[in-house]
Amino acid sequence: MKKYYVTTPIYYVNDAPHIGSTYTTLAADIIARYYREKLGKDNVFFLTGTDEHGQKIAESAKKNNQTPIEFADSIVPKFKEAWKLLNINYDYFIRTTDPRHEKIASDLLQKLHDKGYIYPGTYEGPYCVGCERYYKESELLNNRCPLHPDKDVSYQKERNYFFKLKEVVENEVLPKIKNSDYKILPEIRKNEVLARIEQGVEDISISREGVTWGIPLPWDKNQTCYVWVEALMNYYSATRFLENKEIFWPADLHLMAKDILWFHAVIWEAILIAAEIELPKTIFAHGFFTRDGQKMSKSLGNVITPQELVDKYGVDGSRYLLISAVAFGTDGDISLEAFDQKYNADLANGLGNLVSRVTKLAEKSDFEFEIGNKNHFDKNVAKHIENYRFDEALKLIWQKISDLDKKTNEIEPWKLEGKDLRSFLQESILTIRHIAYNLQSFMPQTAEKILDDFKGPKIKSVEPLFPRI
Ligand code: MSP
Repeated sequence: MKKYYVTTPIYYVNDAPHIGSTYTTLAADIIARYYREKLGKDNVFFLTGTDEHGQKIAESAKKNNQTPIEFADSIVPKFKEAWKLLNINYDYFIRTTDPRHEKIASDLLQKLHDKGYIYPGTYEGPYCVGCERYYKESELLNNRCPLHPDKDVSYQKERNYFFKLKEVVENEVLPKIKNSDYKILPEIRKNEVLARIEQGVEDISISREGVTWGIPLPWDKNQTCYVWVEALMNYYSATRFLENKEIFWPADLHLMAKDILWFHAVIWEAILIAAEIELPKTIFAHGFFTRDGQKMSKSLGNVITPQELVDKYGVDGSRYLLISAVAFGTDGDISLEAFDQKYNADLANGLGNLVSRVTKLAEKSDFEFEIGNKNHFDKNVAKHIENYRFDEALKLIWQKISDLDKKTNEIEPWKLEGKDLRSFLQESILTIRHIAYNLQSFMPQTAEKILDDFKGPKIKSVEPLFPRI
């Protein structure tokens, strides 16, 4: 049986969703919708969720005078609402505080311990709570974490347990990456990962002594599991504790931005190899949305929220603008000014105008049209989606829109009548239905509406799909 399992990172609950986290989740939604259409809906599993343990969440909760779980409970609905707002249709929302996840994570840790991959030690070094990770001195910029330049790192020295990352990476992970036993995409990211491995890998501490908000180590209850190790396990645990989901492991695609690629492309693989679990097939790291060249983040105060977008551009307008904003995989600056322009050009004047033009002519002609029920993905659109080039897939679809627009201008169907008019309209209607079908994973409501408007036999003129801004 063919199946497809796609995941997003599980987001920290210290922050409400912004369009950065929305970007990844939307991309996963597009791919899940595409494969549901291709393989059947039961053969796709799309997992997202929240990462709720660790020092960062405990500190944010404290600032809010809440217990960590109260705090997490108050943020989780914000994620669910945002995904609903954008018509993101995930199959399951996992929370790492779910006891079923905790149990599976704990069993996995015990397994690593039993197989001799864990040993006690002490760790000393700069720790960034924002990233929830230790840094090497050489990685810091002006003594601060490069991703959180607004905060000091803390120097921590702790007794904790280590995972034999070095050994597993050198003996197993590196050859597997080189052989493409699993894929790291885009290629440039794979090369970065390889280069970093070549520089030398150190064992990682997998537990924290000073952090109580976490999953206790099964063999030493005075320590909790390091949040990253346990968070990665969510992808696997969901397929074990949910009913009828075992067949989805290994994941077909772990999606994320480049900030957390190392965890997914190297550490996660090493853990799975040590636990003798099959590896995911593809790790894809896209770029960052930036504003004026800076990463969008709450601490920098330059975020755009999904609600702001939807208020302005509608659900599908927002989905379109987000996913076509930059070539999928690269960084890119985004601005509302650029979104306004693109909305007017591609949606109001492009797709929307074409649909209203053709429906008007069809209504006026009063002909009956044949629709048939066959429709298919354009081969190249499908290829781009399967290669995670969503922007390219959309470019192809928009080429079809502008081709039909041009043809309409040339033929001037408003001057035609009888057989000529009918044959022009008949063909245009099928083309628009084909366009809508190909758009369905990107703009599901719009696609459905267009397919419904062009259902035949008679066609009525419609309200503009995308009112001009
Ligand atoms: N909790 C960890 C992930 C654990 S996964 C086992 C985490 N959470 S996060 O809330 O910080 O989310 C990081 C992810 O959010 C990025 O990898 C990316 O998917 C998304 N993005 C956050 N900001 C973004 C941009 N400005 N641009 C693009 N993606 C963004 O890390």
